[in-house]
Amino acid sequence: MPDTVTIIDNRTGKQYEIPILYGTYPTYGAAIQAAKLRDIKVSDDDFGLLSYDPGFVNTASCKSSITHLDGERGILRYRGYPIEDLATKSSYLEVAYLILHGELPTREQFEEWTWWVTHHTIIHENVKKFMTGFHYDAHPMGALVGTVAALSTFYREAGNIGDQETRGKQIYRLIAKMPTIAAFAYRYSIGMPYAYPDNDLSYSGNFLNMMFKMTEPKYEPNPVLERALDVLFILHADHEQNCSANAMRSVGSSQADPYVSVSAAAAALYGPLHGGANEAVLRMLREIGDKGRVTDYVKRVKAGEFRLMGFGHRVYKNYDPRARILKELAADVFEVTGKNPLLDVALELERIALEDDFFVSRKLYPNVDFYSGILYQAMGFPVSMFPVLFAIPRTSGWLAQWQEMVTDKEQKIARPRQVYTGADERSYVPIERRK
Ligand code: MLT
Repeated sequence: MPDTVTIIDNRTGKQYEIPILYGTYPTYGAAIQAAKLRDIKVSDDDFGLLSYDPGFVNTASCKSSITHLDGERGILRYRGYPIEDLATKSSYLEVAYLILHGELPTREQFEEWTWWVTHHTIIHENVKKFMTGFHYDAHPMGALVGTVAALSTFYREAGNIGDQETRGKQIYRLIAKMPTIAAFAYRYSIGMPYAYPDNDLSYSGNFLNMMFKMTEPKYEPNPVLERALDVLFILHADHEQNCSANAMRSVGSSQADPYVSVSAAAAALYGPLHGGANEAVLRMLREIGDKGRVTDYVKRVKAGEFRLMGFGHRVYKNYDPRARILKELAADVFEVTGKNPLLDVALELERIALEDDFFVSRKLYPNVDFYSGILYQAMGFPVSMFPVLFAIPRTSGWLAQWQEMVTDKEQKIARPRQVYTGADERSYVPIERRK
């Protein structure tokens, strides 16, 4: 059988044979070229058909080889490697290299990559001055979005997006400086002096240092929490064409530099439906308050009084594999931090929801946000830092998506069409004659 679909336009009786494009998996992600729909016309001066897809629910905006999600089977792989393997065997910096370069690094490549990222953690002192312009209680995510965009004015060569070496230098800088800017934004918001990067520490350990170092001569991260944060960073590194990755690709498609493109992506992540979801989960768990009240709360969710936060996903129609990993990680973290009482509420809510056909039939399973907030809170991060903790690791994913878009010869500036539903032509009416 031919790899095509045949469309019959019943308005004209004409048939159109359209080729099917395949990716790695013939039954997952196959597509037709939307431009072919424009051939379907009722007359020669007909514009032809568009595909109407609010929120791009069923639209492939690109071909990508970075991350594969299979929502039905609960699969997440970075460059073909299952997230479960990477979370247990790799590190965030190694995963960032994998996502950006397509292959796991050799020891030599990894040492060079680590050296470059480690030695780009410092930010220009003028960036610090820029940050003092924010209101004293500025939300750290707002400060991050603004400051990352400002980096564009410090590294003017970044606009040369066609040059691989220039791209590579900005990629080091952004991955290295996001934790510094994030930690500085937090310290500023609580009136604390900045804790500068410590190049002796790991990527995650240094972030904990810049966040929590007090007056001790040298901050020593708790190894269990350092590893837990690294796993959280691995799980949040990329997620194919999510809202913020789409923003990164869209802004970057105009050949804007990577700093303002990352700022746009972080701005998208700032939204409560994206990076703010784990904060909403924490509020829900606090609202429930006790595992004994979960049954009653679930009844009220089913009655439509509340939305069950941290459950369900645009892609996953099965358990989010990242949530499963975090649920296991919680035990290690709470051994150090003491158990977060909200965990019992979360586990009871999950138990009830997974047994209740109301949720199962709607394929509402826990997603990564359901457990990440509980862990971040237990580790001492304030709720305001939750979207920032998402943006830091996702920077490598955004940059990988951006680089793939910039080097994809099939890509062009993102400029969707529309189905116009407004007024037909009409004449201007002078103000004195308007009703
Ligand atoms: C993400 O990791 O970006 C979130 O799960 C949202 C998504 O993938 O749409």
